[in-house]
Amino acid sequence: MLFPCSACLAQKGRADTALNSNLSLEVNKMNGSVEQTRQTYPGWDEFYNKDIDEKLDFFKLNGRLFDVIFAQQFDRPFMDYLCKIADMIRLLAQTKMGQEKLRHLLPHKRAMLYFVQPSTRTFLSFQNACYILGLSVSESRGTSTSSEVKGESSEDTIRTFASYVDLIISRHPEAGFAEKTAWVLNQTDRPVPILNGGSGPDQHPTQALLDIYTLERSFQHIGGLDGKKIAMVGDLKRGRTVRSLSYLMKNYNDVSLYFVSPDVFRMKDDIKKFLEKHGIPYYETDDFESVMPLVDAIYMTRIQKEYSDDPSGEADTYPEFHFKKEHLSIIQPNCTIMHPLPRRYEIEVEVDNDPRAAYWRQERNGMWIRAALIAYVFQVEQEIFAEFS
Ligand code: CP
Repeated sequence: MLFPCSACLAQKGRADTALNSNLSLEVNKMNGSVEQTRQTYPGWDEFYNKDIDEKLDFFKLNGRLFDVIFAQQFDRPFMDYLCKIADMIRLLAQTKMGQEKLRHLLPHKRAMLYFVQPSTRTFLSFQNACYILGLSVSESRGTSTSSEVKGESSEDTIRTFASYVDLIISRHPEAGFAEKTAWVLNQTDRPVPILNGGSGPDQHPTQALLDIYTLERSFQHIGGLDGKKIAMVGDLKRGRTVRSLSYLMKNYNDVSLYFVSPDVFRMKDDIKKFLEKHGIPYYETDDFESVMPLVDAIYMTRIQKEYSDDPSGEADTYPEFHFKKEHLSIIQPNCTIMHPLPRRYEIEVEVDNDPRAAYWRQERNGMWIRAALIAYVFQVEQEIFAEFS
């Protein structure tokens, strides 16, 4: 069983309830597991409550990104650079000789994939990105087989991984988890980079990277992402992918956003304030069909029932926010239809074979951009560029 880290407690306004490390441990007689230890780290709550802009340097080393925690860490030069690395990796991977060159870049490095919230594509794309670059991979896909079942804290668990590997990639149900573990590790004598593969409902920064890569590739023959109109549709309140993607829009010129959702799932105010601060126009509506002909990209999302207090009470699939085959005749000829996946009923399968349906390309792009990110983190991208000089 997982318990909230103090980041989450702070977010809920309950930081003062953080418990000390001498908590007595209760044995759950049903499954032999022990209540997870919650440790107090002096200074963490103060750090967590700072503005993101004030924190960014903490996750850098020698002017480069070290940990990847928030989408706000990425600026335009970085995004363009990463897309270029991904293009080069994709090209090299087309031949056996190119694949061998890529595999020889990082055979001396080891990565830990710590995915204790369900995932298919983030896990597999990171794992295969590691294989492409020659890294060895260890994995944990749940807490039930690790010493967390004996009550070890998440922070001590991550610190243990750092004893064995050179890179940790995490997916966790709690907001702030990746940030906290990076903050803890950066104060030890063996910091290793943390890549956030999704932390609760707040951020999924590498998903935003692959979304931008997909948008840039889709629009490369019509001037790139600058000047485009993007609709985000569905559960905008709890969907971390649309939150991270919205943050990245500050890096592009004249982009406007259309938030299309049921009233209960409207985009949260923190994102709207961010867009206002950066002069990015956004519109809100619950009339999906009225937006379809206007936009260059439609980013569909799933209703995130897993974050509901009562998932069984959320039977509505909100059909008026589904993209149907008949809508293909309404949207623009160059419109890109995206979805972070997994999907449920948001896009009819008859849409899949339309050339504008980008979501299967989008998930594969996740492997290339994550390989690019790992190459960047270990500073081997110049060796990739050298293959083309
Ligand atoms: N898009 C995404 O994060 O998918 P998974 O949950 O399958 O990793």
